[in-house]
Formats: sequence, structure tokens, C-alpha cells
Amino acid sequence: MASQEANKIAGAILMSGLIAMASGFIARSLVVPVELKQLAYAVEKPDAPAAGQVAAAPVAVPPISPLLAKADLAVGEASAKKCAACHTFDKGGPNRVGPNLYDVVGRKPGQVAGFAYSKPLMAVAEEWNYEHLNKYLNNPKATIPGNKMAFAGIPKPDERAALIAWLRSKSDSPKPLP
Ligand code: HEC
Repeated sequence: MASQEANKIAGAILMSGLIAMASGFIARSLVVPVELKQLAYAVEKPDAPAAGQVAAAPVAVPPISPLLAKADLAVGEASAKKCAACHTFDKGGPNRVGPNLYDVVGRKPGQVAGFAYSKPLMAVAEEWNYEHLNKYLNNPKATIPGNKMAFAGIPKPDERAALIAWLRSKSDSPKPLP
């Protein structure tokens, strides 16, 4: 009886299909997926955390104060060209991608009228004193996570000192050196 054989074979195929399906359902109902709230292991994130996250650990940068007195203003002025795409430095200069930086030394962050600062920058209470500028200009992203200054930073302490000394000179009455 060939047709009976064929029926048996077809039945067997159908049955095994059903068993496979059923075991899939059962397996899924037995294994409850657990959504991880945090990654099981930490992944280093080079980018700034999303707004609202707590600031990363402070970056250790050697103090700039000892270098300011002998800083070369001409070197600072040349270095400031790296900022000029986004900032103006003269009194009453316009805001560009970044705010005008005339008289920034000693100023509280986020004070230039008409410039839309980021929330993380507005939340910074410490004024732009020499060491604060030193840290920020060394690594803007790490110093104020989530701020919107898209600039990698100036890693060389001598150049940073020269730039900060030059920024200090851009003022009606430059703040005293430390
Ligand atoms: C690609 C554009 C860009 C470059 C280049 C850049 N900045 Fe900025 N800067 C910004 C922006 C945008 C902000 C505002 C950040 C915010 O609101 O989070 C800012 C903010 C600042 C502030 C804070 C000002 C305030 O009123 O609180 C300082 C200081 C500063 N920049 C200094 C510099 C210096 C010095 C350089 C050059 C070494 C530089 N920036 C290069 C875009 C730039």
C-alpha cells in the first residue's frame, strides 16, 4: 500500500514539525529574559555622557599658575587662532559658534548675553579662574561633560599657559596673576 506509506511519512513530517514548534513555545515560556539595567561590565565611553548624568571624576591636570608669569603672550595669541573659528576676543565682539571671550578670566561660566549655552555649562558654579581654565582648555569634554564646545583641547602646558595669559590680557583691567 504505497499511499498508506506516503501518509505515514507525511504524518511523521507533520508531527515532527509540530513537536519542534511546541518545544519552541515551551522553551520560550520557561526562559524569562532579564533586561539588564546596567551593562554587566563597564565599557569606557570616550564621549561625554548624556545630559543629566553626573559628571565624571575630575581630571588631574598639573597647576598652570607657576607657568603664567613667564608665559609668552605672542605664543598665546598664535594659539588663540585655534579658537578663532568659534570665538571672538575683542570687547563687544559678536558671538559665533561659541560666546565672545573678552574679559573671560574671572567671569562666571555662561554669562555672555545672547549666547545659548548648554545646560551642563550653565550648571557650573566655579568662575573661570586660571586653574579652571587650565583644566577646561586641557580637555573641555572631560572637565564639563556634555558641554557643547567641540574642541579637543590644548595638551601642552606651556601653550595653555601662554593662551591663558593672553586671554587674561583681553580685559579692561586684567585680573592679578596668581
Ligand atoms: C568648534 C568651536 C569651538 C572652538 C574651536 C573653541 N570653542 Fe570654546 N566654546 C565653544 C562653544 C560652542 C562654547 C559654549 C559651550 C557650552 O555652552 O556648552 C564654548 C565655550 C567656551 C568657554 C566658556 C565661556 C563662557 O562664557 O562661559 C571658554 C572659556 C572657551 N570656550 C574657550 C575657548 C578657547 C580658549 C578656545 C581655543 C583654544 C576655544 N574655546 C575653542 C566652541 C568652540
